[in-house]
Amino acid sequence: MKDITLGVIVGSARKGSYSQAVANAIAGFLPAGVSAKMITISDLPVYNQDYDENSPPSYARFRGEVTGCDAFLFVTPEHNRSIPALLKNALDIASRPYGGNVWSGKPGAIVSVSPGAIAGFGANQITRQTVSFLNVFLMQQPEAYIGGIADSVDADGRVSNEKLLGFLKVIAENLVAWVKRFS
Ligand code: FNR
Repeated sequence: MKDITLGVIVGSARKGSYSQAVANAIAGFLPAGVSAKMITISDLPVYNQDYDENSPPSYARFRGEVTGCDAFLFVTPEHNRSIPALLKNALDIASRPYGGNVWSGKPGAIVSVSPGAIAGFGANQITRQTVSFLNVFLMQQPEAYIGGIADSVDADGRVSNEKLLGFLKVIAENLVAWVKRFS
C-alpha cells in the first residue's frame, strides 16, 4: 500500500498552543507508512472572492499542500463557542474558486481542545458542519473533545498526561483505520 500523508491543520497560531501540542502528540502515534504534514495557515490573508482572479502566493502554496494530502486531521480551539476565524479562513480558501474544492473526497477527523470543561464542543460541531459540507468523510467515532488541557501540557509544550496520551493514541489508531478504508 502506498504511504499515506495526513495533513494536520491546527486552528491556532499561538506560540505555546495547546491545540498544537495535541496535534503533535497524535502525530507521534502514527504508524510507519503514515506521515503527518503540518500545514501552515497563519500566513493566509483573509479570503475575499476577488482573490479567485489573482490570489496571494500563500494561497497557491496552501492549496497545493492540501491537494497533496490523502487525509486530514483538524485540531482546533474554540473561539466564542465557534470555529476560530483562522481555521474557517483556511477551509474557505481551499474550497475555492468555485468548482475547485481541494478538500473534497478525502477522509478526516476533528479534535477540539480547550482549557475549559466544555472541551470545545461548539468549535468541534461547527467545524464538522463546514468540513462535512466540503465533502471530507469524517470519522464519527470516537469523538474527540479534549477539555482541561492546561493541566495536561508540560513547560516544553508537550502533552504529559498519560491518560490523555492513551486517548490520543486511540484517536490516532482509529483515524488510521478510517483513512485506510479509503485507500
Ligand atoms: C477563547 N477561549 C475559549 N475557550 C473555550 O473553551 N470556549 C470559548 O468559546 C472560548 N472563546 C475564546 C475566544 C477567544 C477570542 C480567545 C482568544 C480564546 C479560550 C481558548 O480555549 C484558549 O485561549 C486556548 O488556549 C486557545 O487554544 P490554543 O491557542 O492554546 O490552541
